[in-house]
Amino acid sequence: MNSGSAVSELAEPHLRALLATAGLDVEYVRGEGDTLYRTGADGTETPVLDFAGGYGSLIFGHNHPEIVARAHQLLDERSPIHAQFSSHPYANRLAAELNRIVHRETGTDEPYYATFANSGAEAIEAALKHAELDRVLRLSEALEEIAAGVERAREAAGAGTATVTGAVFERLGIGRPGTGRRDEEAAVEAVAAEIGRRNAERAAKPPVFLALEGGFHGKLTGSVQLTHNEGYRTPFAALGARARFVPRDRPDVLEEILAEESGTLLGLAVEDGEMRLVERAAPVFCAFLLEPIQGEGGIRPLSAEFAGRIQALTEAADCPLVIDEIQSGMGRTGALLASSRLGLRGDYYALAKSLGGGIAKTSVMLVRNARYRAQFELVHSSTFAKDSFSCHLALKVLELLEADGGRAYRQAEERGAALETMLDKVRAAFPDVVEEVRGKGLMLGLEFQDQSGAEDAVIRDAAHSGLFGYVIAGHILHAHAIRTFPTASAVNTLRFEPSILITDESIERLERALTDVCGILREQASQRLAIPASE
Ligand code: F0G
Repeated sequence: MNSGSAVSELAEPHLRALLATAGLDVEYVRGEGDTLYRTGADGTETPVLDFAGGYGSLIFGHNHPEIVARAHQLLDERSPIHAQFSSHPYANRLAAELNRIVHRETGTDEPYYATFANSGAEAIEAALKHAELDRVLRLSEALEEIAAGVERAREAAGAGTATVTGAVFERLGIGRPGTGRRDEEAAVEAVAAEIGRRNAERAAKPPVFLALEGGFHGKLTGSVQLTHNEGYRTPFAALGARARFVPRDRPDVLEEILAEESGTLLGLAVEDGEMRLVERAAPVFCAFLLEPIQGEGGIRPLSAEFAGRIQALTEAADCPLVIDEIQSGMGRTGALLASSRLGLRGDYYALAKSLGGGIAKTSVMLVRNARYRAQFELVHSSTFAKDSFSCHLALKVLELLEADGGRAYRQAEERGAALETMLDKVRAAFPDVVEEVRGKGLMLGLEFQDQSGAEDAVIRDAAHSGLFGYVIAGHILHAHAIRTFPTASAVNTLRFEPSILITDESIERLERALTDVCGILREQASQRLAIPASE
């Protein structure tokens, strides 16, 4: 008997019931490598081959022996897990190691400062908050410089060394005041008041956030507004700043949005006895967020061409680029940063998932020196972040990734290629059923063709209810003892994110399962689907 079945369900009962409809509400009691074990009614363990990989958080599989041993050692040594507001040399070592790898992959040597957090969404929110603090500070620095310029104009008017040109009044749409001896002083005051009013109006506008259509960056109140899926986002639209979404492969739309949203601040300059209006770009853009390979959105890699355009356009608009490597990073595509292969360079990076080695819950936000604001560290914190246990385990993960000249990265690439070859083979055998195979390394997806017009009523209904991918996953679990999941925002796509230890034999097992599923879809034979009643 499953341990939870004796009491009524209080832990997300609705979700549990929904999982039950696809036979996915099974309990796993043990995990090792790419295998999870579930117990049957008679108490025997059944191995399940895990291609879901903890939503991509298990680059070394479940309970990797070296990571488990390190965790044991830390507990045995009574490592002080929570010693906030003290020196954390292990966190510094971790940040330094991340820097070393980021520098190697991106070809730079600019420092990236680390803020640790506890989940992916939290690292994204740390990046958003930092970017907003930086924007607000840039804005107030600009306004201070403008105020100093206005002051110089006042002095020049008082000393009678400069006059306000008619063009200034024309441009501002206000009249020149007075006719007396102190005309120039009154003129500067009128201009200063109008400039102040306009700048204040500009400064009061909310920051502009940009993200890609299909993107996923978390479900907390800030990050969910940058997540494209409307179902997740719209009920909470009033809680966080809204983003503008850019369609994939449409740099022209990005360019349009950047132009539309950009704004200016006005100032006064004294030059050759004249006071002139000067305009400068207002810091309106808080951040542009992207995933190098969209995960939840259906395993969709960003093209190098679009990536290059995004980099150039955001740089020109002084819009900080936040690269969300939460799912694509940590070696999954053969590099710590999948974006480094696209030639992208982030102002910010977010890493999570495998950073904790499948044991610790940890994440990190990295910000480059040019954008770094020291004040951030005094206004952002978390009880649990930067704890010794997580930092030491993350250091172990990096050690395993970097060992033997980066063998793990090569393994991710090689195992990913083997898995992709198999998926391509399935697609070639079932072009009438499989729409596309996408992804890179060990972040792969297979999209089925839309079944909403299917002859078979069960298959058609599953497609209409949005449960299609879950029904397929339920069948693969019960008929083949393999765990897979659809991408939640694109449920016709099954995702495969196993560990670097995935074997040829396991890939062959998945091939048999997918061949079976494709046969069922080709023949519209839902009676062959194994969807048991809830356990
Ligand atoms: N960013 C990306 C690219 C993600 O894939 C996720 C989570 C997050 C941010 C949020 O991280 O869950 O730790 O707060 N993706 C999960 C998934 C939900 O389906 O792979 P979190």
